[in-house]
Parts: sequence; structure tokens; C-alpha cells
Amino acid sequence: MVDSVAAARETSVKAHSALLGFHKHRHEQLLAQQHRQEQMQQLQQQQRQQAPQRQGSGPHDPPSGPGPSSSQQGFGALGPGRPSFRPPQPPQQSAAGLGSGSAPAAAPGPQPGNGQQPAFGPEGQLVLPEPLAMLDPKIVDNVFNEVLDRSAAIRWEDIAGQEAAKALVQEMVVWPIMNPQLFRGARAPPKGLLLFGPPGTGKTLIGKAVAANISATFFSISASSLTSKWIGEGEKMVRALFALAGVLQPSVIFIDEIDSLMTQRKAEGEHEASRRMKTEMLVQMDGCDPGSGERRLLVIGATNRPEELDEAARRRLPKQLYIPLPCAAARKVMLMNAFKRGSEVATALSDADIDKIVERTAGYSGSDMKNLIQEACQGPVRDLFRTRGNVTDVAPSDLRPVQLRDFQMASKAQKRSVSDTEVERQYAPVA
Ligand SMILES: Nc1ncnc2c1ncn2[C@@H]1O[C@H](COP(=O)(O)OP(=O)(O)OP(=O)(O)O)[C@@H](O)[C@H]1O
Ligand SMILES: [Mg+2]
Repeated sequence: MVDSVAAARETSVKAHSALLGFHKHRHEQLLAQQHRQEQMQQLQQQQRQQAPQRQGSGPHDPPSGPGPSSSQQGFGALGPGRPSFRPPQPPQQSAAGLGSGSAPAAAPGPQPGNGQQPAFGPEGQLVLPEPLAMLDPKIVDNVFNEVLDRSAAIRWEDIAGQEAAKALVQEMVVWPIMNPQLFRGARAPPKGLLLFGPPGTGKTLIGKAVAANISATFFSISASSLTSKWIGEGEKMVRALFALAGVLQPSVIFIDEIDSLMTQRKAEGEHEASRRMKTEMLVQMDGCDPGSGERRLLVIGATNRPEELDEAARRRLPKQLYIPLPCAAARKVMLMNAFKRGSEVATALSDADIDKIVERTAGYSGSDMKNLIQEACQGPVRDLFRTRGNVTDVAPSDLRPVQLRDFQMASKAQKRSVSDTEVERQYAPVA
């Protein structure tokens, strides 16, 4: 059983890398062939003029066009009039291999477009779907490099506690991607999900677990990097992000620290570029529909300051999930995980010691617990340094095991970072 899980995990990691490798390769081709694309754009322009009916809900929508042009038909149509393609699956894995961990392996639903090869033009150039061909390649490059998530695999079981949140996220994200046909009409999943709660409770971790456990393309963006790193380009980045996510659907767009991007719009004093970016984001979020055959994008936002979020953005993330401070059982799991069999750090903690630590860490966040454990584990090293004067030739086996007193010392340095009053006033959902 353990072996098969490990094997599935390895396949999943390989598949993920292969997929990412493919994206990179395809993008390099895109840049190299860009001048040829100009011709293609002209052709598309002409076709659009002949059939000017357009989809989309606002002036900034990525052009979705009337349907695949003759040269694009190789991508297959994903829903009426929407050119799209799926990256080919690497030979050693099925699409289901991308799902892993405790979540069941996720197979993309039986929708047209899945598993199709990208199309190549008469001169062997890669033909991109229209929404990408219309964008500035440098911006698309940024999205590829900075936003398409390549983070380490986080398993659902790595997240201690938060059972309700984990269950709901799987229900909302994993199931509809496994079988989109089931989740249509009145059963369609909400367009967006907002994770909110005190700092350090695992919101970003949940985002990473989603990335590692679904067979969808995962885009992860920190809103503060959108505002600071790509000053002035934010609007274009947002457009490229959603266009790319649309092409590689089903996709999940995880926007961390969404409050810093979608703060309430101020009447004055707000930078024009940032206002435009927000508007673009709202327009794009409007067009997401994880249950549709046309634009299967789910947006997940995370924030620890939900009250700062623009009301319009909040409406576009209709499912709002509170991620609380970890309960006693969750804190115990964090401790047990840190010192489980095979762990690098030896411990002499009895069950009673563990219970005592759990009791005394009431109100600690997951991140406080992590820091506390780290600090306690330094105890044996500090002791040894005191007697020997250096740690150069010390083997791990020379260190004494971590004891309760290490935690007592550590708790002086690492106290809980959020008080009950703060939790109640700033972070908890309004009753
Ligand atoms: N439930 C949890 N289980 C295991 N580790 C956790 C948990 N919650 C937090 N942690 C630890 O704390 C670190 C920080 O968590 P994370 O970044 O997910 O918090 P966050 O809720 O996104 O915080 P913020 O609101 O400040 O962005 C994680 O990398 C992890 O080590
Ligand atoms: Mg976070």
C-alpha cells in the first residue's frame, strides 16, 4: 500500500515535471517563431472582421474570437467557438497520474480538447491559440516563469487539522476537475473560493496542496508581487494570466495575499495603473466558470485581512472559508509529525510531555508551532556548544534528545503571535 502510494507520488512528480518541461519547450518555440505569428495574427484579424461576433464580458477580455481558424483547428475546440489544446501527456503516465497524495487520482473529464497535440503550421511553427497569440510574448513569458507553479509537492496529510477546509477544498476543486459533467447547472461549483483567517494557519499551504493534488494547471501568484514587481504591467499580466489559464484549462489560479491587490477602491490617491489592474482582475474573474465546458477556471484567493478586500472582489469569490488557529488535536499532529519515526531529530518526549506542550500552546498558529519546534530543537545543540565550544566535529548522534525543558525554554522566545482578541476582532468571520 505504502509502496503503491510512493510509486504514484513519484509518477506524479515526474508527470508534473514533464508537463512543465513541455510548457517551457513550447514557450521557447513561441518566442523563436514570433515573427511568423504576426502573419497569423493578420489572418485572424481578417477572419474576425468577417465574423465579428465576440464572447467576453468587458473591454479587456482576451479576444476569444468566433472560432478556430483553419490553421487552429488542430487544437480542437473546447466548447463552441473556443480554440484550445491540452499538452500531450508524457508517455509514462496517464492523466490520472497527476493526482496524488490522499486525494484520489484525478482524471480530467471527458471533454473535447483533452489530450490533444498542439498544432503546427505549414512551416513547422507552433500555432498558439488566439488568446495567447494576441498577447505581448514578454508578458506571456513572465507568466510562464513566475506564475505557473512549480512548488514542492505538499500532501493533504502534511496539513495538520483543518479537516473541514481540506474536505471542502477537495469537494470544490478536485471533484469538479475529476468529473466536470457531474458539476454542471445547479451543481456547478462556485466560481471562486476565499480562504481567510489569522496569519500562519495554513492558507498558503492549502493552495500548495491543491497544486500538488489535482490534474489541472496551477497558477500561483502573490498579489504583492503583481503590484511591486511588475509595476505598470499588472493589467497586462492579469490578462495574460487568465488567457493562459484559459488555454491550459482546467486551471486553478491561486492569488495569495489577495487583499493587497483587491483593496477597497479609494476615491482618490490611488494609482491609475493599480486601479486598471483591479478592474481587469474583476472583469477576468467574472468570466471564470469551473463548471463550464468553456472556461474552466477556478480562482482561489487567500487573505488574513478579509475586511480590506474590495466588496466587488468578495462577491466574485462567493465561497468563503475560515481557516482558524489549529485546535489541540492539530497541534499534537504537528508535534508528532516533527518527531515521527525516522525523523532526523531524536526526542525523549513522553506522551504526557506531548500533551503538556499541546495544552500550553493553545492559541499558537501553525507557523508559531513550527517556529517553537525549531527553537526547541536547537536546545541540545546549544548545550553541546556550551561544553565543547564549537559544533564542527559533532555528529547528530552526539546530541542529546530534545526534552520538555527545551520546549519550556523555547516558549519564552516563541509566544503565540495572535491574541484571542485579535482573532475575534480582525480575523474571525462576522457572526
Ligand atoms: N495546518 C498546518 N499544518 C502544518 N503546518 C502548518 C499548518 N499551518 C501552518 N503551518 C506551518 O506554518 C507555515 C506558514 O503557513 P502558511 O504560509 O500556509 O500560513 P498562511 O495562513 O498562508 O499565513 P499568512 O496569512 O500569513 O499568509 C507553513 O509553511 C507550515 O510550516
Ligand atoms: Mg499565506
